[in-house]
Amino acid sequence: MKLYFIYSNKMSCFYCLASREKDFNRVDEKDRESLGASGFSFHELSLATKGFKEENLIGEGGFGKVYKGYLSSGQVVAIKQLNLDGQQGSNEFVTEVIMLSLFDHPNLVKLFGYCTDGDQRLLVYEYMPMCSLEYHLFDPEKKALSWKIRMKIAVGAARGLEYLQCRAYPPVIYRDLKSANILLDHDFNPKLSDFGLAKLGPIGDKTHVSTRVMGTYGYCAPEYAMSGKLTLKSDIYSFGVVLLELITGHKALDFNRKSGQQNLVAWFRPYFNERRKYSKMVDPRLEGNYPLRSLHHAIAITAMCLQEDANRRPLVSDIVIALEYIASKSNSHCNTCQQPQPETDIN
Ligand SMILES: Nc1ncnc2c1ncn2[C@@H]1O[C@H](COP(=O)(O)OP(=O)(O)OP(=O)(O)O)[C@@H](O)[C@H]1O
Ligand SMILES: [Mg+2]
Repeated sequence: MKLYFIYSNKMSCFYCLASREKDFNRVDEKDRESLGASGFSFHELSLATKGFKEENLIGEGGFGKVYKGYLSSGQVVAIKQLNLDGQQGSNEFVTEVIMLSLFDHPNLVKLFGYCTDGDQRLLVYEYMPMCSLEYHLFDPEKKALSWKIRMKIAVGAARGLEYLQCRAYPPVIYRDLKSANILLDHDFNPKLSDFGLAKLGPIGDKTHVSTRVMGTYGYCAPEYAMSGKLTLKSDIYSFGVVLLELITGHKALDFNRKSGQQNLVAWFRPYFNERRKYSKMVDPRLEGNYPLRSLHHAIAITAMCLQEDANRRPLVSDIVIALEYIASKSNSHCNTCQQPQPETDIN
């Protein structure tokens, strides 16, 4: 039986492509045509980045270096160049091309194309001018994100996840949801990126798919880390970690903090049932500028997403509705806001 991956008006035989994911060169011309993204030559991308000049370098992750580039059409793009040392990256490259070619949603980053000249593997994305959520949330040099912006980012990221879980068939398990993979446009609209680890979720009577444990420590659901059994609820847990980062302004994992505060979830879990301490959990950089009721609701959703029992974590569609409500209430002026809090026993 062939399974078709259906998104808006795009339909492709996903498994036909995915089964050839080990080697992109084995994906034939017909298959390539069914991918939405176009092929670029290495020469074109070299011209776009002035020969991959240092001044065009935006950042670097596990996959390789990312450059800002200008296509001959004038389009500004981000070009990710696979580090040729690792085999793993090559598999992720194909998964990324296939997945992103089929997705179409304002909260998922767009892939314009790819390059497979010789050994070279490059990905060409829409350029996201405000970098990643991680960059804004944890860099003390950056202006603190307001509560309103934080909730806007939470809603958009949840909508992106809802698309993957509810609009796709088979549904997609992202596996790499983290603040570094939430990119921001000039208006702080978030877009999920990096689908190289994504997996097709269970269908029919199946409750999970079994995989090698991948992802980023600190964001990984405990049951997945222990058993390798992956479900849609694994991503809900990671989403809860991102929510907790947005609320507290602390990283999921930070070995520079004292022991007991290095793992964000372990640190804050005891406070989820203590409403009177909620305002002490908040990022001090907000200086008390948030509606208290919104904060209570946001922490309640976070606590539900982070439940140890995966079955008790909420559905992504319910998370979207709840966050949309919070965001709508976060526009009001902060006459109900907390005054700045002194450093407390929590922080
Ligand atoms: N489309 C894009 N537009 C603008 N900047 C981008 C884009 N894609 C990635 N970047 C930036 O490039 C840097 C590296 O991103 P990359 O996705 O390669 O690594 P990462 O997600 O930070 O870490 P890793 O992939 O190793 O887990 C990040 O700082 C990110 O903000
Ligand atoms: Mg990334």
